[in-house]
Amino acid sequence: MARIEFHNVTKVYDGKNRVIEKLNLKVEEGSFTVLVGPSGCGKTTALRMIAGLESVTEGRIFIDGADVTDREPGKRDIAFVFQNYAIYPHMTVRQNIEFGLENARVPGAEREEIVGSVLEMVGLQEYANSLPSKLSGGQRQRVALARAVSKKPRVFLMDEPLSNLDAKLRNQMRTELIELHQKLGSTFVFVTHDQIEAMTMGQQLVIMDGGKVLQKGTPREVYASPNCVFTAQFIGDPGMNVHPLGDEAMFGFRPRAARFSAPEGGFVRMGGRAVTREILGADTLYCFKTPYGRDMVKSELDDVAPGDEVQLYIPVGAFAFFEKDGRRVADPERERTLMERLRSRHE
Ligand SMILES: Nc1ncnc2c1ncn2[C@@H]1O[C@H](COP(=O)(O)OP(=O)(O)OP(=O)(O)O)[C@@H](O)[C@H]1O
Ligand SMILES: [Mg+2]
Repeated sequence: MARIEFHNVTKVYDGKNRVIEKLNLKVEEGSFTVLVGPSGCGKTTALRMIAGLESVTEGRIFIDGADVTDREPGKRDIAFVFQNYAIYPHMTVRQNIEFGLENARVPGAEREEIVGSVLEMVGLQEYANSLPSKLSGGQRQRVALARAVSKKPRVFLMDEPLSNLDAKLRNQMRTELIELHQKLGSTFVFVTHDQIEAMTMGQQLVIMDGGKVLQKGTPREVYASPNCVFTAQFIGDPGMNVHPLGDEAMFGFRPRAARFSAPEGGFVRMGGRAVTREILGADTLYCFKTPYGRDMVKSELDDVAPGDEVQLYIPVGAFAFFEKDGRRVADPERERTLMERLRSRHE
């Protein structure tokens, strides 16, 4: 187990490309932490700096209180699984796993035992003597995981390790990784651009954009209390509907918040014409044309057809308000004023 800290870490590529700016972040010991954000926001760079595979331009990185900024990768007690898992094609599954242990000079008997237990952990015992070419993508992915796990690292870094898998395998691997984390108890830092993956796997989410951390919190916190427009729109499936409210503020509501009939208590009502309807199973996702543009609505009701005109009701408590610069309105008094302004438009 290990705690990881970034202190004012800046990364500049090629002397001019500033991709991470004064990053301050604490990854709790033993947590499953997910760095999530759009492509190019600096997730891989941050992860590689923890591993020591990328130099730090300014600032320091600590593992368990020890400054590792200038420590070689091999001396950080870290295992890394990349997006394009590199397993050796000419070695069997067993040899792939043993290889790293031999390098680490683990004695033969102990090696045997570790290989046996990690193969069992990832459910590949019967493939121990197969070559990777005989395995499916998901099985190969599990070999890469098994190899990383076999080192019993304090810190386990994963960079989009599931992105090459089909949807079903990805779901299965998510569950397996959560279980693996519970078994190992080491600190997991997992990188993805997929907010659903982040929400389902992470105990702590770190939401990044443009080389900065915008918000850190549990999945519930970032969903229920986004601190800015970016997080509100990035988290959620789909994200929050957000529109301008006059010149200096914005309002938003989650697709789930809108109803087709009046709720108890205060609400805002607006007319909408259904543009599209996607039946997802238990839920149905609609796109409505509303006075504000387009709004997504997620409902258990599936009987509104494209072209239908309906009234949408959004409970007063479901609205979030943001300043013009994207920050969440923090002052309750100002929030009340903005709510009144919005309601007065819909009377
Ligand atoms: N070796 C490098 N040399 C120069 N620039 C780089 C290098 N690696 C990354 N960058 C730049 O740094 C920025 C962040 O890249 P990074 O790979 O960390 O993003 P990411 O969040 O992992 O994106 P993705 O989700 O697409 O993997 C990008 O603008 C990228 O072009
Ligand atoms: Mg990346």
